[in-house]
Amino acid sequence: MSPSSPQQFWRALRGWWREQAREKGAGGTTSPLIRNLWAFVRESTPERRRQRYGDMEYDWEHRVNTTSGTVDWRARLLGLFHSPYQPTDPALFQEMMASLPIEFDHFTFVDLGSGKGRTLLMASEYPFRRIVGVELIAELHRAAEENIRVYRRLTQRCVQIEAVCADACEFVFPETPLVLYLFNPLPEAGLRRVLRNLEQSLEQSPRPVWIVYHNPAMDSVLATSRALGSTGGTEQYSVFKNL
Ligand SMILES: C[S@@+](CC[C@H](N)C(=O)[O-])C[C@H]1O[C@@H](n2cnc3c(N)ncnc32)[C@H](O)[C@@H]1O
Repeated sequence: MSPSSPQQFWRALRGWWREQAREKGAGGTTSPLIRNLWAFVRESTPERRRQRYGDMEYDWEHRVNTTSGTVDWRARLLGLFHSPYQPTDPALFQEMMASLPIEFDHFTFVDLGSGKGRTLLMASEYPFRRIVGVELIAELHRAAEENIRVYRRLTQRCVQIEAVCADACEFVFPETPLVLYLFNPLPEAGLRRVLRNLEQSLEQSPRPVWIVYHNPAMDSVLATSRALGSTGGTEQYSVFKNL
């Protein structure tokens, strides 16, 4: 289906509406709707569009397209109803990876909400066993696939990279040790579903899991898990591991 086909667009909006109605009751959906539409108008000013190109340096250097500046208006509108696309800063990514005391080659890197795939490319500079990105919005997923195709560097240490277009809440985790990367892809209800899936997966197949949570707005949700414990981080990210 085309990335921003009307069917996909309306299906995603309906999903968002149902989720809001479940959380807040039918009357509680109008003000978030107006808030999101207003945010969309604000984000569409020429000034804000120019600002989005501020994340281009990585793309110039690596000849890829991961900027939020070129995301089309339908994907941006959908993003406001899910989680707006914004790529991870490369220096911060390196810092987050450096905080993991692991042997990378035992682990699969999974980015839930992988957008245009910048983290998948950056993770490929580490000797991960495999790399998987899961993205809901088809336009972003297609950009990730193209980026994976063109990204070739002598420094690359993992070439098993896969981009999947799917809802992160329904993702079935690979049965290998995991580094799970989250850059705020989900609202609270979605994050709880991911956590439940992960806990079930760990019960069925116990293995080491590290979670790197960038911009940890809902740390408290992960902290409720009996399977996980916090191992540190900074204001910009939190790290959890299973116990
Ligand atoms: C802040 S961006 C992070 C992009 C990427 N992980 C990075 O760090 O460069 C969050 C991404 O999550 C995606 N997203 C939102 N809800 C999702 C869902 N239910 N399943 C999969 N992806 C989702 C958004 O479309 C967006 O691309």
